Amino acid sequence: MPSSHNKARETRVNRYMPMITQPVDRRRFITAAFSLPAALYFTPGLFAEELLKTPAQTEGPFYPGKLPLDSDNDLVIVGNSVTPAVGSITHLSGRILDPSGNPVRSATVEIWQVDNNGAYLHSNTGNRDKRDANFQGYGRFETSSTGEYRFRTIKPVKYPGRTPHIHFKIKAAGQPSLTTQCYVKGDPGNDRDGVLRGIRDDYQRESVMVAFQPLPQSKIGELAARFDIVLGETPSEDRGPGRGIGKRGPRPRA
Ligand SMILES: [Fe+2]
Repeated sequence: MPSSHNKARETRVNRYMPMITQPVDRRRFITAAFSLPAALYFTPGLFAEELLKTPAQTEGPFYPGKLPLDSDNDLVIVGNSVTPAVGSITHLSGRILDPSGNPVRSATVEIWQVDNNGAYLHSNTGNRDKRDANFQGYGRFETSSTGEYRFRTIKPVKYPGRTPHIHFKIKAAGQPSLTTQCYVKGDPGNDRDGVLRGIRDDYQRESVMVAFQPLPQSKIGELAARFDIVLGETPSEDRGPGRGIGKRGPRPRA
């Protein structure tokens, strides 16, 4: 199991190069090199390193049926309210990247999550009668040329059947859309979560674990969390170990 989040982002050039990744001696290198189809040598960027793609994950049934009037990137304050949402205020940020590591500009990043009582904005949510009306529940942000996004929200909490998580949907011109989720690194519920365990590639699973750390300069106990997202994976792409083998199991509860 990879030890750190960055390890998960470790690049792998493996699809075409398995025979070259083994300890090589001169004879094996030449044999391997000459057995590659010539066309490969002229494929621009082929030997360029590719980032580990963020795994596609289920959207689940709670994407807001009706988007809130206030859909900005501050989920802690609704409209002109002076009452903040209940929960551990978190500054959530990251970059949207393409598989080559280039920032993706003008990507629309949407997030949705439960409030501190485990209730979604969606009308079918559990705990509806306890929903925190001061929590926006959904937010949207468009990336600039740096590919950066940021939200002010609350640290996610668990709800029946799910470990704490935040849902993401990213759309960008010229890129495959991605629906995914991030998790609280080290949360005891992670090992039992069916959606998270559905990501069978160790590196990819590690890449959606996010540390929610105290913001040093905060006087009110705010947290900071960073989640970089690499586009490129499509839902149909198998995520078995070694990429491309094995079928996904039954759809877990979302
Ligand atoms: Fe969810």
